[in-house]
Amino acid sequence: MANVPRQYITQQKIAEHVQRLGELYPPIRLDSVDRTIKQPLLVAKRFGRVIDYLARVELEVDRNVLELLVLLPEADETNKTFYADVWQPQEIQHGLILDRRQQDLRRAPAEPQLELSFGIKILGALAHLKPIQDIVKLLYFLPGASTERQRCWPTTRSTKACKSLVRPLSPRRSSHRSGSRSRDTSRSTTCQRLR
Ligand SMILES: [Fe+2]
Repeated sequence: MANVPRQYITQQKIAEHVQRLGELYPPIRLDSVDRTIKQPLLVAKRFGRVIDYLARVELEVDRNVLELLVLLPEADETNKTFYADVWQPQEIQHGLILDRRQQDLRRAPAEPQLELSFGIKILGALAHLKPIQDIVKLLYFLPGASTERQRCWPTTRSTKACKSLVRPLSPRRSSHRSGSRSRDTSRSTTCQRLR
């Protein structure tokens, strides 16, 4: 087996990666989406609740960013730029598009939870303490890395679904790792390391 030289991840590389993600994957414009639905009743019946859930999760990115800013006050500028200037604008558009989609299906708009919970506020007040900060990082980054790994796995498979559905989304998904938690730029490089 060929010996592939190890690539070392530096802060500079991560910063450049974040900048590139912002340039390559700007937020999807609402008016660029094909909103044709051939069988709206059937789609609403089968997928209405799923679309609502997805819309809500995406729209809650505003709260997720707030949580990160509160819980990780010592995050560097690259991470903060990623949360606020790259990831949030991408995700909020996903939410708006999905929410429009469900309203096309004559469903009620999503009701995202945008308020910080009491627990997060308490944790945020203590976040400058090192032991608390270490726990917060663990809670956010470890599940993030795990989710990213799970996302990488299907991109290496050769099934039709992986080729047609997963891989085309892969570059974009690598920008905003792991669902509702743990969005930091360290994870956007996880896939590269694992390959
Ligand atoms: Fe998204």
